[in-house]
Amino acid sequence: MAMHIDVDKHLTFSMNTKLFPMIGCPMGQSSGSYGYNPLFEGNGIDEIMWPVEIPEGGLEDFVKAFKTFGMRHFTITMPHKAAIIPYLDVVDEHSRLFNSVNAVKVDEEGRLCGAGFDGKGNMAAIINAGVDVKGMDVAIIGAGSIVGVILLTMAEHGAKKVTLINRTEARAKHLIDVVKEHTDMEIEFLPYTNENLDLAASRCDFLMQATPQGLFGFPADYEYLGFLDKLKPEAVVMENIVNPPMTKFATAAKERGHKMIYGVDMMLGQLAEIFEFCFGFKPSAKSMEKSKKNVYEYFGL
Ligand SMILES: NC(=O)c1ccc[n+]([C@@H]2O[C@H](COP(=O)([O-])OP(=O)(O)OC[C@H]3O[C@@H](n4cnc5c(N)ncnc54)[C@H](OP(=O)(O)O)[C@@H]3O)[C@@H](O)[C@H]2O)c1
Repeated sequence: MAMHIDVDKHLTFSMNTKLFPMIGCPMGQSSGSYGYNPLFEGNGIDEIMWPVEIPEGGLEDFVKAFKTFGMRHFTITMPHKAAIIPYLDVVDEHSRLFNSVNAVKVDEEGRLCGAGFDGKGNMAAIINAGVDVKGMDVAIIGAGSIVGVILLTMAEHGAKKVTLINRTEARAKHLIDVVKEHTDMEIEFLPYTNENLDLAASRCDFLMQATPQGLFGFPADYEYLGFLDKLKPEAVVMENIVNPPMTKFATAAKERGHKMIYGVDMMLGQLAEIFEFCFGFKPSAKSMEKSKKNVYEYFGL
């Protein structure tokens, strides 16, 4: 075991160190390797995570290369979370329902097994912040790929009701149909308008931002944030965007004194879950601290 990473970007490794790719496109701003490598180092795993940019349509070549090089694990981000599924031998039920896989491992029988961790990572961040969604009225802005699995974990943890606010009704309705089929949680749709943002904010206990508005490189950001003034003072606010951690939305909610949960915390929750999926045990608390320190320093938090 000769691998070492620090926030100053120095890595050492042995001739036996295996590569653990993190694939997506673009990958220029990815912070994942800052979080994963301390977990490997601190738990006796001789692998190195590094970001690999695979363009859309490039998965077949990637999977061939992965097998040829004898690699054991990889993680997946946009735009490949759904497109990877046809290449896999085993996929868990929630990930298949919402077409979203975050990590793949080769099992003892040599099969490619994929699983999704957006829901688990999101809930881990909520729990780590000391928040219990049981009985809560939750409002979620956005109905994209991460929201389906987040809805299932919200239901599993006893949320009373979720209001989905989205521009495209059909996308939200599809999620609502699947959730209604699999859970008893109350769920409704509101079209994305300033009035509906006000309405949902005024009655919720937990407001979650799950659109890319404010994401690094994304062309749009919130023009209207007046709905934050309608929140109850004790309402919890969650921003899912990782980069930048302090979006306009997150900054405005924090300024209003709300308990905040950030996308970086969701990412850290996912890292721990993906580590356990890949290696069969939980990373040590000390390595998680190091991972968090690296990621927080990377973002200047
Ligand atoms: N923290 C983490 O570990 C983590 C992990 C995964 C994702 N994320 C973040 O979570 C967010 C959502 O990810 P996703 O994969 O669900 O995204 P996605 O599948 O691309 O869905 C985007 C959602 O945002 C809505 N949207 C996009 N642009 C909008 C705009 N200008 N105004 C209003 N709504 C808009 C879309 O509405 P329509 O349906 O109308 O198009 C859709 O509901 C992203 O910011 C992503 O970076 C964080």
